[in-house]
Amino acid sequence: MPAFTATAPGKIILFGEHAVVYGRPAIAVPVSQVRARAVVIAEPRWPAGKVWVQAPDIGLNSPLDDLPDNHPLYQAIHGVLMELRLERSPACRVRITSTIPVAAGMGSGAAVSVAIMRAYSAFLGRPLSAERVSALTYEVEKLHHGTPSGIDNTVITHARPVYFVRGQPIQAIQLPVPFSMVIGDTGVSSPTAIAVGDVRCAWQADPAGYEAVFDAIGEIVQAARQALERGETAALGPLMDENHDQLCRLGVSSPELERLVGAARAAGALGAKLSGGGRGGNMIALVDSDTAEGVVQTLLQSGARQVITTLVRQPGGTEPYA
Ligand code: MEV
Repeated sequence: MPAFTATAPGKIILFGEHAVVYGRPAIAVPVSQVRARAVVIAEPRWPAGKVWVQAPDIGLNSPLDDLPDNHPLYQAIHGVLMELRLERSPACRVRITSTIPVAAGMGSGAAVSVAIMRAYSAFLGRPLSAERVSALTYEVEKLHHGTPSGIDNTVITHARPVYFVRGQPIQAIQLPVPFSMVIGDTGVSSPTAIAVGDVRCAWQADPAGYEAVFDAIGEIVQAARQALERGETAALGPLMDENHDQLCRLGVSSPELERLVGAARAAGALGAKLSGGGRGGNMIALVDSDTAEGVVQTLLQSGARQVITTLVRQPGGTEPYA
């Protein structure tokens, strides 16, 4: 049986989450150690139109048509059929697996959509462009995240570091000097939509106060871009700390995030912050070769469920550190 496979990486936001929803810039990089994978297998003996979806990670094994219309897997597959103006799919099985932590700020939902759309459109003989995959994934994200900025679908589809401003064309960012990040998972599941929705309510109640925080974050992102492009990576640490303080002002940190961020700093990280929607999920810490292992061990001792060390570099995003 011919099989069509595609994968998509996870992501971390280095700077600018939440403020990016309100038009400020943000910087994100792919994380290739964790990936979503979709395999589409033709089933020529089945009746035309029959599509079977298997996602063992979430215990799903079902005909596509039995899924609710608003299910993200249904949306990803139907989005491709509609884009290609096809009324009926050739019979096939779609199998989805992922090693990206769910509801942890690492873009698992967007990566699953990207992988499905790539594998399924290739199976249909009409592979979609990166721009269309990103745009269709954004539509799926909108259903589940309310008001996403578009940064997740962009960085995951293009699988390269991006400087992102909502509604503007993707800007690649130059990283002349690689640097290492440790990613610590609090193990607390935190859907992005809830954190983003809470920030929206708070912004509506105090627009001036929240706009001032978004502005401060936007300035941090600009300074971080300059430091990155000049190769002054040590300067990123204090900027991460400042960005984290502003995210605390937005109310999206949590006791578990505070514990891991504090532990990473105490273990010698050059800077640390929550990454993504917050309230749980992941934090990131900037490390050098002297501090990396100590920070990893300290995070594990401080309750991190999983720790990933990643080298951020140009091009192609990140790769295993050791
Ligand atoms: C989620 O990865 C980042 C947020 O800024 C939401 C978004 O940009 O859509 C919290």
